[in-house]
Amino acid sequence: MAIIETKDLTFRYEDADSDALCGVTLSIEEGSFTAILGHNGSGKSTFAKHLNAILLPSGGKVYVGGVDTADESRLFDVRKTAGMVFQNPDNQIVATVVEEDVAFACENMGLPQEEIRKRVDECLAAVGMSEYARHAPHLLSGGQKQRVAIAGVLAMRPRCIVMDEPTAMLDPSGRAEVIRAVQQLNRETGMTVILITHHMEEAALADRVIVMKQGKVALDGTPKQVFSQVDRLRELSLAAPQTVQLVHALDPAGTVLSPEALSVEECVGQLMKYLEA
Ligand SMILES: Nc1ncnc2c1ncn2[C@@H]1O[C@H](COP(=O)(O)OP(=O)(O)OP(=O)(O)O)[C@@H](O)[C@H]1O
Ligand SMILES: [Mg+2]
Repeated sequence: MAIIETKDLTFRYEDADSDALCGVTLSIEEGSFTAILGHNGSGKSTFAKHLNAILLPSGGKVYVGGVDTADESRLFDVRKTAGMVFQNPDNQIVATVVEEDVAFACENMGLPQEEIRKRVDECLAAVGMSEYARHAPHLLSGGQKQRVAIAGVLAMRPRCIVMDEPTAMLDPSGRAEVIRAVQQLNRETGMTVILITHHMEEAALADRVIVMKQGKVALDGTPKQVFSQVDRLRELSLAAPQTVQLVHALDPAGTVLSPEALSVEECVGQLMKYLEA
């Protein structure tokens, strides 16, 4: 079942002389992990903001959990279904103690204290931050802060989490922490994940990769289907993962080797084949 559907979605910012989104039709399966890639300005953030009704379509439709995001009376349902995580964890943290920060949205929803306690504990555990419950968020590392921000979104029990470059401001270990937490959420709780990223290795972990260009979907498929198109990716100003690039450089025509080598193991397998050929 699709949790998110967009039909011929177009959007133009006020005062802009061209559309930031030009007819995007997509269906995202509940429980899937989708990565969205694309060069700067291709429309990724504009698309993401439509999934949470931060922006409303200029043309076409967006349905989140079956609800039309343009239906003002259902705004709360839309926001509750699709939670958003942004790039800068510092802008998302509002309290001075981690557990209070995670509880913030639940407090606003007026949930009973007992229920809030339960959710905060659960969500901190889900992102591996339980032991920091009583810590001050501003003293945490970037990766830890971002995991606290994710826990705060999870506490609203969304069915889908939309992340707009959540690792862009993090160092490699922080990035790995966040991606591990997200992957685990998807696998263990069946949470639908939409991850916007500039990192190919992160996108390679998804079930599906969508590449945007100038407000349109340029490529859409499994990571293997998308990343094996080395030349097409270059046209879209993106680089294939290093493993794919290496295999492609050795055998550009793909006569002996398969460019679908995303993992280091697959790449080694292809290199062995190359040496034997
Ligand atoms: N607030 C705004 N007002 C006017 N134009 C905007 C606004 N925000 C974005 N745009 C334009 O809309 C287009 C899509 O921008 P968007 O931010 O969605 O791209 P993006 O793929 O998220 O880029 P990035 O990788 O840099 O985050 C770009 O041409 C951008 O200049
Ligand atoms: Mg963006």
